[in-house]
Amino acid sequence: MKILVTGGAGFIGSNFVRLVAAERPEFRVVVLDKLTYAGRVQNLENLSCEFVEGDICDPQAVSRAMEGCEMVFNFAAESHVDRSLMGDPDLAGAFVQTDVYGVYVLCEEAKKRGVERFIQVSTDEVYGDVESGYSVESDPLAPRSPYAASKAGGELIARSYFVSHGLPVITTRGSNTFGPYQFPEKLIPLMVTNAIDDKPLPLYGDGMQRRDWIFALDHALGILLAGERGKPGEAYNVGGGNERYNKEIVAQILQLLGKPQSLIKHVEDRAGHDRRYALNFEKIKGLGYAPRHSFEDALRETVAWFQERQDWWRAIRDGADYQDFYRRQYAQRLQNA
Ligand code: NAD
Ligand code: DAU
Repeated sequence: MKILVTGGAGFIGSNFVRLVAAERPEFRVVVLDKLTYAGRVQNLENLSCEFVEGDICDPQAVSRAMEGCEMVFNFAAESHVDRSLMGDPDLAGAFVQTDVYGVYVLCEEAKKRGVERFIQVSTDEVYGDVESGYSVESDPLAPRSPYAASKAGGELIARSYFVSHGLPVITTRGSNTFGPYQFPEKLIPLMVTNAIDDKPLPLYGDGMQRRDWIFALDHALGILLAGERGKPGEAYNVGGGNERYNKEIVAQILQLLGKPQSLIKHVEDRAGHDRRYALNFEKIKGLGYAPRHSFEDALRETVAWFQERQDWWRAIRDGADYQDFYRRQYAQRLQNA
């Protein structure tokens, strides 16, 4: 089995390649990745795969990378909600370009080549804010941020290739993911790395927003099983069953690191901030999926990884790009807090 993993140098994609190496050693893996600010070849350290640097929006790069592949797992995306809200046209445009147009380019090539499975990795954010209850796969898509809307657009493009051309598309919608190699712009790694350096932890609004959290290797497992055992044309929620308030998580991180709770700073909220996401994931349980990691153990393991791998995250955080992003996103907020 030869598989293409787009976005494989990012956070979840590289954890997916790690899981495949352990659980499906017979698979040959090709990674196609543009190496944006979020992609790093180092994330694939100690793994054997063929690496192609290229853009999923570029038909030639896609054609080269997809050669001989039977399954395509599309992880490539602009993935950070805050960046989609920053009001910078180049940035916001990149979400539509990669998360919608890129899916079209991949589907076209997959159709031409007759691939056996096309797995579109999507997100629980496509359901929008869920005040109560749990999202099921048949719920309407009601995305509210430019990121979530782009991901919903990508899903619909992929679905149209199933309906119109019979491309065997399977969609996964995953919860908030955490673990090793997560770019330190996201809640958990941002708070852990700030706390290690005794910097303030910028919690948006009242911190009472809730998410369902899943460890990266569990999310990767759900995606692999959906690809292997799922039914073409269907979507599968991949949840962790760990609903937590942001406030609780940040407090837990400080406790694990032995740092004072006074580092928490309530700052101006994210625009249009969804208060809650929650998934019903009974459908994928029917494919044999169950999370293998408890939230508490996985958080401890993740915090320990960031303590050990300071080489990895300091190289990112000390860079001019990250410093510029951090200043634009947080300087004023922290000053006003
Ligand atoms: P990430 O930002 O860490 O990684 C994205 C990767 O895609 C990077 O390696 C980047 O270089 C690559 N990439 C970006 N644009 C590209 C392009 N045009 N062509 C080729 N490569 C490109 O993201 P992540 O958190 O690992 O998310 C992976 C996927 O999972 C995304 O599709 C995201 O929407 C989805 N998802 C993420 C979460 C989460 O909590 N992080 C939850 C559910 C779903
Ligand atoms: O739900 C799945 C989604 O989870 C994925 O599709 C996205 O790719 C991924 O980025 C993530 O989106 P969120 O916006 O939920 O994740 P983030 O880590 O940015 O934020 C998690 C929560 O923490 C959210 O309610 C906002 C809050 N937050 C985040 C940051 C970065 C803060 O309070 N302060 C912060 O500095």
